[in-house]
Amino acid sequence: MTPRRVLLIVSGGIAAYKSLELVRLLAKAGMAVTCVLTEGGARFVTALSLQALSGEAVHTDLWSLTGESEMGHIALSRSADLVVVAPASADLLARMAAGLASDLATTLLLATDTAVLVAPAMNVRMWTHPATVGNLATLAARGVAVVGPDEGVMACNEFGPGRLAEPPAILAAILARLDARPGDGAGRLAAAPAHGPDHGPDGRALAGRHALVTAGPTHEAIDPVRYLANRSSGRQGTAIAEALAALGARVTLVSGPTALPDPPGVDVRRVESARQMLAACEAALPADVVVCAAAVGDWRAAEVAAHKMKKTPDAAPPTLVLVANPDILATLARPGASRPPLVVGFAAETQDLERHAVAKRLRKGCDWIVANDVGAHTGTMGGDSNTVLLVTAHGTEAWDRMPKHEVARRLALRIADALAEAPPAG
Ligand code: CTP
Repeated sequence: MTPRRVLLIVSGGIAAYKSLELVRLLAKAGMAVTCVLTEGGARFVTALSLQALSGEAVHTDLWSLTGESEMGHIALSRSADLVVVAPASADLLARMAAGLASDLATTLLLATDTAVLVAPAMNVRMWTHPATVGNLATLAARGVAVVGPDEGVMACNEFGPGRLAEPPAILAAILARLDARPGDGAGRLAAAPAHGPDHGPDGRALAGRHALVTAGPTHEAIDPVRYLANRSSGRQGTAIAEALAALGARVTLVSGPTALPDPPGVDVRRVESARQMLAACEAALPADVVVCAAAVGDWRAAEVAAHKMKKTPDAAPPTLVLVANPDILATLARPGASRPPLVVGFAAETQDLERHAVAKRLRKGCDWIVANDVGAHTGTMGGDSNTVLLVTAHGTEAWDRMPKHEVARRLALRIADALAEAPPAG
């Protein structure tokens, strides 16, 4: 079997050093990697390091390629199953969006008809600048997939989104992209299901499908400045929305308050309370699949004070009277014309995971439950990885601990597989 080939473009930025780890992970996963190093990238990593890890010559110069053969750059880009730009600097993204061909990297990107995945990395202000936002939207509209950036403290000591996604997350996004493309399955990893889903009109497994995803916590107001919330970061649900979009689905992500940037190419509706989340979900129907990953507050204050509640000296603290919130998952799973053909819920438990998850699937009326242990010792809530059980009508599967991006990728593939036979939602 010929291995899948990735053309990796490494552009400038402090994060370029992570491309070495990415090459190592790709090689370990059995993929062939051809590296292209931009002039900026070469200031941070050497061609020699990339060559040693990939085992192949590294390309840096547009003119040396055309010297060998007139069509050298076209052949280079077309021989790949996927073109990956990691890190993708603000400058390179701008040149891609503008269609420039000013160096080897941009010439390849303009000449290729191969799918492209970019992993942006830059200063937070550059990432949030309207120019970059506009460039990303242009690229997403052209079908370019995006992974990251992550949020955190950056080399410039600023905090926010802009940090290159970690190499395992980039690898997961690469695998999702490769799995999403039609092909003979050569080079697929064991992680992908042996029975690949059928492919929709644009060649991707979920093309023509609408997926609705909920993510994050809810905030239930007590008064204008206080609220009830939980520790959900929204990472798992947001990663699922991204993974479904990478398979070609039109995705509506209804998200509670999170610190995560909107995933490009996903229609994000931001809400605060459970009741707003339910209304946004119902407005987004019909859908082929709904994945309820949000940690919805079960209760809200019976009455929300119109003004900030004040302490009264010597008076007892106020008593908070709670009332139940609507159950979004159970509502969407209710039999009826608007019920999506596949309804997937999550179960956040701190004990007896499988027993609670099996019972929850039946109680909520959903088709699958992705159960995770959210006990403080697991570090799942707010963390980057997850250990889940997939509970269906046919039984329970235990998945190994893996990054949330990889849980998302696998779940998206299972969803594509399950929907392969279903007619599109009207
Ligand atoms: N859920 C929902 N609306 C709610 C509560 C939960 O849509 N008001 C969904 C969650 O998004 C998740 C599933 O229901 O998909 C299970 O959530 P979980 O918090 O595990 O369970 P609860 O419904 O709170 O039940 P319990 O209190 O028994 O754990």
